[in-house]
Amino acid sequence: MSTKENLNSQHRRRFIKFLAASPLAMAAGARGDSVWQSGYGSLHFTPLDFADYLIQSADEAINSFEFEKVAARQIDPAHYGYVASGAGDGSTVLANRQGYEQFYFRAHRLAGIANVDTSGSILGQDFSSPIMICPCGGMGAMHLEGETAVSRASSERGMIQMHSTMATYPIEAVTAGRQAPLWYQLYAISGWDFAARMVERAIQAGASAVLLTVDTPARGTPEFQNMMTRFDTRDCTECHGEVRSILHKPMISGAGITPENQRSYVFSWELVEQLKREFDVPILVKGIETAEDARKCIEHGADGLMVSNHGGRGLANGKASILSLPDVVAEVNGEIPVIVDGGVRRGDEALKALLLGADAVGIGRAYLYGLAAFGYEGAAKVMDLLNAELRAAMKNLGIASLQELSPEFIGRY
Ligand SMILES: Cc1cc2nc3c(=O)[nH]c(=O)nc-3n(C[C@H](O)[C@H](O)[C@H](O)COP(=O)(O)O)c2cc1C
Repeated sequence: MSTKENLNSQHRRRFIKFLAASPLAMAAGARGDSVWQSGYGSLHFTPLDFADYLIQSADEAINSFEFEKVAARQIDPAHYGYVASGAGDGSTVLANRQGYEQFYFRAHRLAGIANVDTSGSILGQDFSSPIMICPCGGMGAMHLEGETAVSRASSERGMIQMHSTMATYPIEAVTAGRQAPLWYQLYAISGWDFAARMVERAIQAGASAVLLTVDTPARGTPEFQNMMTRFDTRDCTECHGEVRSILHKPMISGAGITPENQRSYVFSWELVEQLKREFDVPILVKGIETAEDARKCIEHGADGLMVSNHGGRGLANGKASILSLPDVVAEVNGEIPVIVDGGVRRGDEALKALLLGADAVGIGRAYLYGLAAFGYEGAAKVMDLLNAELRAAMKNLGIASLQELSPEFIGRY
């Protein structure tokens, strides 16, 4: 039996039985980002076992969706649930995916383009691709190499990576040897002292910007994750027990957080000003959804903002982040850079966001599934696929570089 066949075969059988038996889980799968949407209606009638096919290596992948099917079998049920789940019924995860369908491309022909250049810069920091690696906690649950594998892949491709406060690996292990910028994502979970200590450490380790995540003061019940956890035979309390929960994470341990004071901090816009006053690196706010809050980011001195609903993990019944983007871009009107994330699984979708005015586009689950399926190779292949799709779509539209992006290349149904 190969490693893959061997992997979690027991879990797999139970998982499939569970999916077959549970209308809610089917809904979560069918409504979530796991669905490979296609225009190939006739494939439904193919005599081949098309839908069940699992790629055997990262190289074989045709699109980023192919990794999720492997990931779902490769990692333990609770960990797959952790990545895939949104808040509540997963409605915001679904909205994030479906939002892109409201836009179509408007190609300009005979543009005389030989090569496409996706390089650029944001807040004075250079990148080879405007696709950025979003901060995601606990990548060790996907693969033993976790954030270090993703960092290697993104650095080799000149892509900016954001490092989570909830990471499995310390920031020092991730910045070591990096060629591309690394930004630090801050959860101010326990007051200013904690926040300041974390940011100082991140800057010391080489972080060249800080993002303050503001979109999940409470995480909505991750229903799908909780249901998947029922099918996990391991003792989860060893890593996720009451006391150890987040306190043992390498970016948090030693920072003065205790079971009593964790998550005790109620923060407000003052925190953005405080970060600006104390630190010399650019400060961005991650998790903005409205024009009003975008204006507040500017008023309180933020250097940039990220339109995001945390991949649909904070709140159910939210708006697709791609649909929140135009209002925010109009309000900001070029005063500070705007990044967007949520539901991006293809380079074409990243391009739609760029044409709607985003300066860069973040990906989360897309690379996490690559990492979970095949480690470094999987994460790297996802980045390659999305970058290649972005370049091809740009060329087909008649756009040679990011400077040529403009709303005339996109329409809304
Ligand atoms: C498993 C997982 C863990 C995440 N952890 C964090 C985190 O620690 N900090 C944060 O700011 N955002 C976190 N996010 C949100 C991502 O940064 C990003 O906003 C989101 O994944 C984008 O949506 P997408 O997954 O559809 O691409 C997490 C997302 C996932 C899927």
